[in-house]
Amino acid sequence: MRCLVTGAAGFIGSHLVERLLAQGHAVVGIDGFIENYDLALKRRNLNPSAADSNFELIEGLLETLDLSAVLDGVEHVFHLAALPGVRSSWGSSFEDYAAHNVYGSQRLLEAALHAGVERFVYASSSSVYGDAATLPMCEDAREKPHSPYGVTKLAAEHLARLYHRNYGLATVSLRFFTVYGPRQRPDMATQRFLTAARDGTPIGLFGDGEQTRDFTFVADTVTALIRAAERGREGAVYNVGGGSTVTVNQLIETIEEVSGSRLQVDRQGAQLGDVRDTCADTTKARAELEFAPETPLREGIERQWQHILGAGPDR
Ligand code: NAD
Ligand code: UGA
Repeated sequence: MRCLVTGAAGFIGSHLVERLLAQGHAVVGIDGFIENYDLALKRRNLNPSAADSNFELIEGLLETLDLSAVLDGVEHVFHLAALPGVRSSWGSSFEDYAAHNVYGSQRLLEAALHAGVERFVYASSSSVYGDAATLPMCEDAREKPHSPYGVTKLAAEHLARLYHRNYGLATVSLRFFTVYGPRQRPDMATQRFLTAARDGTPIGLFGDGEQTRDFTFVADTVTALIRAAERGREGAVYNVGGGSTVTVNQLIETIEEVSGSRLQVDRQGAQLGDVRDTCADTTKARAELEFAPETPLREGIERQWQHILGAGPDR
């Protein structure tokens, strides 16, 4: 199988590239190396795959690359490229969110249609739900994003649906819930808190810490992506949650236990764009993708901690 992974140098994309290569597939990766965090980290993410003769990296943005040439011979597309982060998507940064996440996605869908790809898997987000009226969040709930980022993720999800409905492109969208694990983006809570535990520096806690997240380990997320390509229903949307819904205060306790250090907490106000709670109803993914998260929060935090210490494998 020849696969395209967009966002290949990113946190989740780099793990997916490695899994696909390990399964014997040929992988073309696209990454525009946008500067949402240190580019050296993105380069390092690709180190384990760089020397594999089945891997080819194309550096460039979805908005400007000649995508028809890139898609030649590709059977499965995994579209993970996006500017992520809910809290940073306000104000003038929205121009970049819209360009990378919406326009980039539309260009890729159009090119995938003309290339005749077999599967197009889109990495959507729990942020499309907003502050849900009922929990757990179910795929047929009305989407009301709470951040400009969520609006762009939902817009691209709608575009994928339109390309399926109108042209029969075999799209599948997965709504990820707060993914964590080795190589996590440096702006995210778990990476920040574990790094602070290592360095003895304070953490910023947004709000009262009683907000909840359905933290999902990165290897489980990668499994869901591959299952979606193999057996996802065309045009469908699936929640991919970790089954570990805890408060941020409980996350801090777990990090203190794992690291053996007490975190100094600098309380800050609740942030615009943050929802109060997320919790995935994964009934549909369990039934149709045979997906079940396998990594309990404590074990996943241990693995991320070992990676941050430079002691453990980065998977
Ligand atoms: P990341 O920033 O680590 O990776 C994204 C990569 O895509 C980056 O390396 C970036 O340079 C590249 N990129 C962005 N826009 C591009 C474009 N238009 N053209 C080419 N390259 C581009 O982020 P991540 O945390 O790995 O997230 C991957 C995907 O999963 C994103 O689509 C994100 O919205 C989605 N997602 C992530 C989470 C999470 O908790 N990490 C949760 C829900 C959804
Ligand atoms: C994450 C990703 O960053 C988004 O890209 C993704 O779309 C989203 O998950 C999703 O599930 O769809 P978020 O849940 O905000 O967003 O992930 P974290 O940055 O790990 O934050 C988790 C919680 O910790 C939030 O309540 C946040 O307010 C809090 N937090 C975060 C802090 O208290 N302090 C920090 O320094 C960072």
